[in-house]
Amino acid sequence: MKVIAFIGSNRKKYTYVASERFLKNLQSLGNIDCEIIVLSDYNLQICKGCRVCLDKGEEFCPLKDDRDLLIDKIINSDGVLFATPNYSFHVSGIMKVFLDRFGYLFHRPRMFSKTFTSIVAQGLYGGKVIIKYFNFIGEALGFNVVKGIVMTTVEPMSDKRQLAINKDIDNLSRKFYKQLVNKEYPKASLKGLMAFRMGRSSIKTMLDEKWRDYQFYKDKGWFESNYYYKVKMSSLKKVLGKLFDKIGKSLANNS
Ligand SMILES: Cc1cc2nc3c(=O)[nH]c(=O)nc-3n(C[C@H](O)[C@H](O)[C@H](O)COP(=O)(O)O)c2cc1C
Repeated sequence: MKVIAFIGSNRKKYTYVASERFLKNLQSLGNIDCEIIVLSDYNLQICKGCRVCLDKGEEFCPLKDDRDLLIDKIINSDGVLFATPNYSFHVSGIMKVFLDRFGYLFHRPRMFSKTFTSIVAQGLYGGKVIIKYFNFIGEALGFNVVKGIVMTTVEPMSDKRQLAINKDIDNLSRKFYKQLVNKEYPKASLKGLMAFRMGRSSIKTMLDEKWRDYQFYKDKGWFESNYYYKVKMSSLKKVLGKLFDKIGKSLANNS
């Protein structure tokens, strides 16, 4: 199995050291090949906002950088860690540039059965919101999300605080490993079901073959399926799914 940590800090301090500990823990739990990617070592350019990736296809992006190399690494992995310092109450700039580079994957998710988690290093405040953000984007990309952790790194760092941080990282590694080897597809949450059914209804109603999202959904059989993949669904969720189809269609028709 392969796990990759994507680091959004330029210095090898708390974010990096925590990610190293997380990966070493995984290696001690099983036969796992690990890699650390420091995002600032790669060529990642700022999205121009042309929307070509969303509308026509990602291969038409005018930027020539390491986007595909990094995304292929995720596709060829079993799990990922996104780790970032809290800068001005959000992810670091380089982490956000990275996330914007694969904005099209939120339209056409494909990370099903892979495991995702996050670590945020903060001086004092704001990390919880960032973890919430990571949990959300992990789910939107299709990952099995293991809720991430915030480390408070206010200096001078006491031994007691460092021990508590290490304990949190070790717990996170164990939870992540459990999910990683399980590899099951997550159940359809109400939020996920709503996003899928309303999203596909509006794509079907508003777009046609010329649009990449439409082609993608058609090729995947998603216009006919209950969800992104085969999953057991209660009768209530089946009814709600049909309702979300209708709402999506009506919103699309009225927009
Ligand atoms: C430009 C900048 C902005 C920061 N903004 C925040 C912030 O909004 N909230 C916070 O708690 N810490 C903030 N910090 C502190 C860092 O999150 C903290 O030092 C963290 O440990 C840095 O991660 P690193 O050790 O991996 O570099 C900021 C640090 C920098 C350099």
